[in-house]
Amino acid sequence: MLNGEKLTLGLESTCDETGAAIVAGKTQLLANVVATSMDEYARYGGIIPEIASRAHLESFLPVVSKALDEAGVKLADIDQIGVSAGPGLIGSLAVGIAGAKALAVATGKPLYGVNHVIGHLAVDQLVNGDLDLPAVGLVVSGGHTNLLLITDFAAPDGIRELGGTLDDASGEAFDKVGRVLGLPYPGGPHVDRMSREGNLGAIDFPRGLAGAKYAKTHPYDFSFSGLKTAVARYVSQLEATPEVRNRPDFTEDFVPAREGKPWLPVADICRGFSESVNDSLVSKTMRALTDFEAKTLVVGGGYSANSRLREWLTEECTSAGVTLRIPPLKFCTDNGAQIAAITAEIAGSIDPSRPDFSPVSALELTRVIV
Ligand code: KG4
Ligand code: ZN
Repeated sequence: MLNGEKLTLGLESTCDETGAAIVAGKTQLLANVVATSMDEYARYGGIIPEIASRAHLESFLPVVSKALDEAGVKLADIDQIGVSAGPGLIGSLAVGIAGAKALAVATGKPLYGVNHVIGHLAVDQLVNGDLDLPAVGLVVSGGHTNLLLITDFAAPDGIRELGGTLDDASGEAFDKVGRVLGLPYPGGPHVDRMSREGNLGAIDFPRGLAGAKYAKTHPYDFSFSGLKTAVARYVSQLEATPEVRNRPDFTEDFVPAREGKPWLPVADICRGFSESVNDSLVSKTMRALTDFEAKTLVVGGGYSANSRLREWLTEECTSAGVTLRIPPLKFCTDNGAQIAAITAEIAGSIDPSRPDFSPVSALELTRVIV
């Protein structure tokens, strides 16, 4: 307890970030410590689960100790513990859950195995206060692109999945396009940066699941794989031309660089691609807000760092009279605060997880706790 408020320890190990955070009450963040193994994957071009699991094992206790120090509390002061139980990489989740179970047994405090993705939305409450519900939630993380309707985080049917991507997540599509264009890994932030230098309309790419045909069958779903293929085709057609192949700097073994492959119109491709992805995200999100008469939009996940998405949603929400809630960037990527936030939100209304719970790699977004 701290000044009569319950202390929640939130533990995160879904993917490549090991996080621990401490929250007093439902909204007061006392500490938030994150270690990442992201740098180890640049040379592989993707996360290697075994490396990530080992990194969690190395970082878990140091990260928890640091969070306790920063908050100025002892482990015995913690009232409840939350840990990511999914969705995510099984090995990574297992390390965090094993650590969390050990802490729960040692302290005798209740343990909640919570939904990492819902944490991406709940974390906004630590910064901007209680959310006005019902709210539409747009989850745009490395692995997810989903629209949710939230009426109550803790009620059995309080979270409804309206739709989601049928193939790639938006961040994943950005990473893949980054690779095709010769940008460093992960490509998302680089494609975003380059897109700001490109010209709108220079290259148009198709929108997935758009138009009247899909308005009935997939009103809130996304698809980015056709778009990704269209970009790859555009690039390979250009790279098959003699103008490009005869350039002195052309090579099949290009090493990723900040500006990407010099023989491609990288900025214009990024602009056209980004416009297509964000057009889908914004138009379907705004439709969900209208259809369900929600006046609050909360956005979470690493892709919410995307500059065009932020700008576009700000414009649309302002004109629609919708309150837009996007947490600051440091809370958008994986962290313990998101887990502490969702745990603190539900702990008063839901029983702790059973002692034998284990990670669920494809945990449904409507299940807030395992
Ligand atoms: O939520 P997150 O940190 O990881 C998961 O929990 O899965 O999301 C990471 C994803 C990556 O695909 C990354 O490239 C993308 O978000 N991303 C971006 C930007 N910043 C991060 N994509 C586009 N524009 C950005 N500015
Ligand atoms: Zn995440």
